[in-house]
Order: sequence, then structure tokens, then C-alpha cells
Amino acid sequence: MPMSPLTRRELLKAGAASAGAVAMPAVTQAANAATTPTPLRPPVRQRVSLEVNGETVEREVDTRTTLLDFLREELHLTGTKKGCDHGQCGACTAIVDGRRINTCLSLAVMNAGAKVTTIEGLGTPEKLHPMQAAFVKHDGFQCGYCTPGQICSAVAVLGEIRDGIPSHVTTDLTARPAISGSEIRERMSGNLCRCGAYANILDAIEDVAGTAGARA
Ligand code: FES
Ligand code: FES
Repeated sequence: MPMSPLTRRELLKAGAASAGAVAMPAVTQAANAATTPTPLRPPVRQRVSLEVNGETVEREVDTRTTLLDFLREELHLTGTKKGCDHGQCGACTAIVDGRRINTCLSLAVMNAGAKVTTIEGLGTPEKLHPMQAAFVKHDGFQCGYCTPGQICSAVAVLGEIRDGIPSHVTTDLTARPAISGSEIRERMSGNLCRCGAYANILDAIEDVAGTAGARA
């Protein structure tokens, strides 16, 4: 005896029911996965030794610790500031092996064995570094957030120019770059301030460089 054919409605209902039956295990699995905690791996720690402001320091740190957090949280050298924490403001600038870096973009363990100079290591209130003295003389001080980074950058910028390292505005790459207003402006452009008091900073740096009045 021939079986009675399914109506279109009955066929759709049967299809939906079987699709639901297949999908159920996946839904259940997803729900289970959401409620089962993923086991946490403990942070990897490592001993790191650096020379900071002339003193050797050694600490065991989480390998994800930035040099900025190492300076501030481990060594309590809070002169180096955390502005953006994304490499965009320069507030965290320190001098590492003679070159300025954004310490928020560098891990402490990457700098093992390096010589680090922070604003605290440049001078003291009794004996200011010439760049600190020039910032005072020319009223180049801005707020406590951006100024330490500005001064560390300024010191390293003059070192870079003296070492013959070209910048984006150096026209003759075969000659030693001259200390000029445009070279200083370009090299200091990574140190931002929302308040716009840069003119006096340029005066201060040119004073230390011995090029005051010869602005280009
Ligand atoms: S805090 Fe490092 S660049 Fe802003
Ligand atoms: S951010 Fe420091 S004075 Fe502008």
C-alpha cells in the first residue's frame, strides 16, 4: 500500500526538528565551555639586573613588566612619568645606553645589563644638570608630567647630533648634522604637551648647545 505523501508544512516541521537535534550538542558544548574556567598559567618571572643612575639594581620581575613600571613601581623612581602608556607622549622618556627611549614601550627584561639614566640621575637640586639649569633659566619648565621626559630627551638629542645621527630634517646625510632650531624641533617632536610652551624649551637647549641666537 503506497505511503501517503508528506505535505509541504509537515516536511518543513520535520526538517526544523532534525536540525535542532543536530545543533543541540554544539549549543551544550558552548554553554559548558563558558562555565568551565580556563586554567590560569602563572606569570613567568625572571631576575633582571640593570644599572640605574649609577647603581646596580637587581629584581625578580614578571617578564611583562615595562621598563617604565620597573622604574616607578620597583625602584620608586617616579620622576619618569606614565602619560599615555602607548608611546605617544614622551612623558616616560629615559636615557638607556646613551639613547632616549620611551620606557613604556620597552620591557625591563629587554634592558638587562643596560645603563639607564632617569631625571633623578641627571642632577640634584643642589647640583643641577646643565640642561635642568637651562630649563630653569629660560623658563622652559612645564608641568611635572611632561618636563622630566622633555629634559631627558633634550640631553640625549644633543648627544645624537654630536654623534652624527641624522634626523628626518637632515638634508645632507653624508655630513655631520648641525645643531639647529629645526633639528632640535624635529628631534623633540615626540615629547608632547597640550599647553604649547615649547619656545622656551628651544631656547634652553640652544643655550646648552652653545648655539643660542643662531636659530634656523
Ligand atoms: S607614557 Fe610612554 S610615550 Fe606616553
Ligand atoms: S603637558 Fe606638561 S605642561 Fe603641557
